[in-house]
Amino acid sequence: MKEDLINIKNQAIARISDCQSLNELEEIRIDLFGRSGIFTNASKNITKVATEDRKQYGITLNEVKTTILDLLTEKKNHINSNVRTWFDPTIPGEKQDLGHLHMVTNAINEISEVFTKIGFTRVRYPEVEYDYFAFGALNFPDNHPARDDWETFFVEAPASSQYGPMLLTPHTSSGQIREMLANKPPIRMINIAKCYRRQMDVSHYPMFHQFEGLVVDKNISITHLRGTIDYFAKNFFGENRTTRLRPYHFQFTEPSFEVDISCNVCSGKGCKLCKEGWLEIGGAGMVHPNVLKNCGVDPKKYSGFAFGWGVERVSMMKSGLSIPDIRLLYSSDLRVLKQL
Ligand code: PHE
Repeated sequence: MKEDLINIKNQAIARISDCQSLNELEEIRIDLFGRSGIFTNASKNITKVATEDRKQYGITLNEVKTTILDLLTEKKNHINSNVRTWFDPTIPGEKQDLGHLHMVTNAINEISEVFTKIGFTRVRYPEVEYDYFAFGALNFPDNHPARDDWETFFVEAPASSQYGPMLLTPHTSSGQIREMLANKPPIRMINIAKCYRRQMDVSHYPMFHQFEGLVVDKNISITHLRGTIDYFAKNFFGENRTTRLRPYHFQFTEPSFEVDISCNVCSGKGCKLCKEGWLEIGGAGMVHPNVLKNCGVDPKKYSGFAFGWGVERVSMMKSGLSIPDIRLLYSSDLRVLKQL
């Protein structure tokens, strides 16, 4: 009986290896495993096998069936892989994904454009700075605790005897000093740069961007500051937006303000997003006379205004995107970046 099974197996192997088509292969399968197929009968015949041989017969039958079933599958795959699929060269190709500029880059370009239209010059100043430009010349007395508000990163490098320790600039206001030392008034600069602060949570990232405006000329007053801020709000956010100034304190401006913009969700009435109808944009003020003096500008002849705001902040406010965690902006996650 065992010999019969070996015979069946050898014949099946021979038929399968000669087989050329899927139809033929299906016929072989039915001959072997169909209702009255060879293996089906062989299983039924087990009752005719002598009791003492039955166990061995069963084992051999199962082994042979598995081998042949595997062979059938293998052959089927082989025939399929040889079937040529028809190729239509006129079908349009699949489009490749195109990259695009990051939301922050787009905002920087747009901010530069808004300000250069009214005579500001886009400038860049060092992001690795000395204490003097980031604080000292901005009217922070030595060791003044207000320095702590800027959560500064210090660089492990020899301090300058003239300008103090080296640091990553925590705000673009250092550019005010660089600009006034390099140029005589009239000055209209827009300095956009990376800033660094030791803070990281859902609304802060240790690296972010600010844009700093500085205007220094004869007879510059708060009216000019207001007009410029309003112009920016309308051109960047939309015609219907207005701004307001709230008194505040900065070492380098006097008077100092926090600037708010009317909320676009509730048009200033007050809603869940803004609470009282206004959203905070950032700081501004009239350049402190000591800052002018530190840069060789005579405060009796000249006055100026300055403002410094976060690029990420204004671009998120503009787009109406509610990004739950600012770290997503810089996470390089394509699922996020594609949407920005
Ligand atoms: N430098 C300030 C900050 O980082 C903002 C500011 C700029 C305030 C210019 C007044 C004038 O918060």
